[in-house]
Order: sequence, then structure tokens, then C-alpha cells
Amino acid sequence: MTRSIRPLVAGNWKMNGLKADLAIATEVARGYDASLKAAVDLAICPPSTLLFTATAALIGSRIATGGQDCSVQPAGAFTGEVSAAMLADAGASFCIVGHSERRTLHGEDNATIRAKAEAARKALLVPIICVGETQGEREAGKALAVVRRQLKGSVPEGLDAASLVIAYEPVWAIGTGLTPTAADVAEMHAAIRSDLARIVGKNAAAGVRLLYGGSVKPSNAAELMNVANVDGALVGGASLKAEEFLAIARACA
Ligand code: PGA
Repeated sequence: MTRSIRPLVAGNWKMNGLKADLAIATEVARGYDASLKAAVDLAICPPSTLLFTATAALIGSRIATGGQDCSVQPAGAFTGEVSAAMLADAGASFCIVGHSERRTLHGEDNATIRAKAEAARKALLVPIICVGETQGEREAGKALAVVRRQLKGSVPEGLDAASLVIAYEPVWAIGTGLTPTAADVAEMHAAIRSDLARIVGKNAAAGVRLLYGGSVKPSNAAELMNVANVDGALVGGASLKAEEFLAIARACA
């Protein structure tokens, strides 16, 4: 953790959740007690179909909501796309961009992700820009180089600390139960912080929240959150269970 930075735990529900599952969000809200509120920010990124009702269900809870992706376009003839302004209109404060599932399954490159982050900012959303290496890249000793290239290509210049979140998510750790060692996370997050200084300036970089993501669970959260320059978590599977998501939040607090 970075002492001066208020941590953020964000849940990425991915393509999971029907109306009935909003009960997960309201259960998280019930467990987000005064001591947790004093220590950690929470956000839930449900599928866009649930964004409006999830935001409404969370009014008064101080839990933010976010989209999982947005179009690079502001509006128009782009069937199936959801614009950043639409997400903001539905109540979102954040938008995940460049998740590895978007990068690999939808062929999104760094330039596209940067354009999405810019679109999110235009709609006053805070982009959560995801970066991370594949297993092959780590085994080849290229993890740092890959992530630095992703950062350089996908993070817009000139954002302030409050307008940007970075999530380091090793692709091989997502949904697999595998996690990097604390030393590997520390090395990566330090490199991200120092490279960010070149993109957004030293002051902003010092305050940007750097999340770790990939198989974060109650059992490993404390160890991961104690690593230097880890300022919270991006949580997939465990965010669909209120008790686990809250336990991860407590590990951050
Ligand atoms: P996981 O997913 O926590 O299920 O590994 C993380 C993510 O994809 O953001």
C-alpha cells in the first residue's frame, strides 16, 4: 500500500449478473460499515444492462459503479456499442478499459485502449486501464517490457491522479487461482509508478491508484495488498460473492 493513497477495491462482474444478482451489491453495501468506509473506496462494475439499477440500489452507500468497457465513439451508427456518456448517464463513475479479455478476445490494441480511456475522461468517468503480460511473456523474461509498452501506448497524457486508475493484471493469473509472488508484484508496480511519471508527470504519478488484479481472494488479499505501490484490487470471480468481496476490502483497510 501507499500510505498517502486511499485504496480502491473494484469488482468486475464480467458477463455475469441478472436483476436478481443486485442482491450481491446490496449485501456489499450492508457490509460496507463505518470503519471500512473510513479506509477504502469500493466500486462495482456490473454488466451495462444492470448499471442503472445497480447505481440506484447503491444510492447512499458511497459505493461507486463502473462500466467494463466503452466505445471509442461518442455516439452514432455503431450497433451494439455503449458510449462512455451512456455509462455516465446510467450512473457510472469508473470505466474499465483494456481488460485482457478485451485485448485478446476483441483484438483491442494499445491505441484503441488509449482512445477508450480518452472517451471515458470526456464523459467524466475515471478509466481503470488494465495492463499485464501473458504466461509466455513472463516465462521469456519479457513481463516488464510488455507492461511498460502497454502503459506507454494506452495511458493518455496529462491526467491528474484522481482521473486515472491503473490495474496490473497478469493474464495468466486471471481466473486461474495463480498469483505472482509479492516480489514480482512489487517490481512491476514500482516500474509502473516510475513510468507513469513520464506520462502524467511526477506529482500525478505519485497519487495514481495502482490496483493488482488476478485471482485476488480473501486468503491472499492481505499479502498482495501489503506490497509497496499496491493501492487496491480489481476483483473478478470473488466480487460475485459479497462476503468475499468485503473480506478483500477489509484486507485493504
Ligand atoms: P479474477 O479476475 O479475480 O477472477 O481472476 C480478475 C479480472 O479479470 O479483473
